[in-house]
Amino acid sequence: FTSSNVAIVEVGPRDGLQNEKQNIPTDKKIEFINLLSNSGLKRIEVTSFVSPKWVPQLADAKQVMKSIQRNPLVRYSTLTPNLKGLDDAIEVGSQEIAIFGAASETFTKKNINCTIEQSLKQFDQVVQKAKLNEIPIRGYVSCVVGCPYEGHIKPKIVCNVVEKMLEMGCYEISLGDTIGVGNPKTISDLLNELKLVVNNKMDLLAIHCHDTYGMALVNIVESLEHGIRVIDSSTSGLGGCPYASKNGAAVSGNVATEDVVYLLNSLGVNTGVDLDKIIQAGDFITNVLNKKSNSKVALALSCKK
Ligand code: HMG
Ligand code: MG
Repeated sequence: FTSSNVAIVEVGPRDGLQNEKQNIPTDKKIEFINLLSNSGLKRIEVTSFVSPKWVPQLADAKQVMKSIQRNPLVRYSTLTPNLKGLDDAIEVGSQEIAIFGAASETFTKKNINCTIEQSLKQFDQVVQKAKLNEIPIRGYVSCVVGCPYEGHIKPKIVCNVVEKMLEMGCYEISLGDTIGVGNPKTISDLLNELKLVVNNKMDLLAIHCHDTYGMALVNIVESLEHGIRVIDSSTSGLGGCPYASKNGAAVSGNVATEDVVYLLNSLGVNTGVDLDKIIQAGDFITNVLNKKSNSKVALALSCKK
């Protein structure tokens, strides 16, 4: 493929931090987002308007949204599972919202406490109100190839949820390999079926890989080959969904933004993202968390210094 128009959606401040057990001071989150805002990224997922009982780490969502220094070139989005979340998101000026469903009944129950059908009804209300407020809506579908509770997920189930979310009015659906069990074959099979759903309009889809088994980058290349041009990633490879872990097993980090930018640069695809600045943002947040980066590229390049 040749393309200069691959976009990265930075999900680090949301997916990256949502499951951290330690307290992260709000001002550190804000500083992290400010660093990302000046790296050339055009889309940043800042936080979630969800129940603080379910996701305590993001209980400061409003404060974070109100305090970040907005770069006019960046679109700042937030997750909103229901109307309360949407109202909060509107109050603090989210420029995009995301509803988040799944292709697994058990995961949906564990993550948002309802059935797939109920979730779609709830999302429909959110989408209709967001449209009235002229806010673009992204849809997430989790567990697109596998579920921590149900195992392999059939493409047909994914297609069904994707189709409904598009009909509702989402402008883009992000396909979440929530626990990183996909490989180029399962991703390819899925995308081949989804092509029929979207009538070959692959710009309606984005890919969201977790890197549990080190498969994220090959899955991203496979997705690029299939025409996907929007890639979700998290600086330093932080993250994972708190409700994706069965029996307390290690939660899988997202693919690292540094690694995705390096990959795309090496393929001659320009994302407009400054790799050094992402590495600096990653250094900042991993210092705050007192953790090592999960990005191979960040480690390799910091060794060189
Ligand atoms: P529930 O308990 O069924 O809902 O939770 P409820 O309506 O009965 O409300 C319970 C309490 O939450 C009430 O408070 C509500 O006011 C409050 P109480 O009366 O007990 O004091 N509440 C809220 N508070 C703030 N903001 C809100 C809100 N809504 C209700 N918006 C609910 C249902 C959806 C709220 C809950 O299950 C929830 O918050 N889930 C969020 C889980 C989550 O954030 N998961 C991670 C994101 S998904 C992900 O990471 C995957 C992804 O990255 C893609 C991939 O990797 O696959 C996107
Ligand atoms: Mg995720």
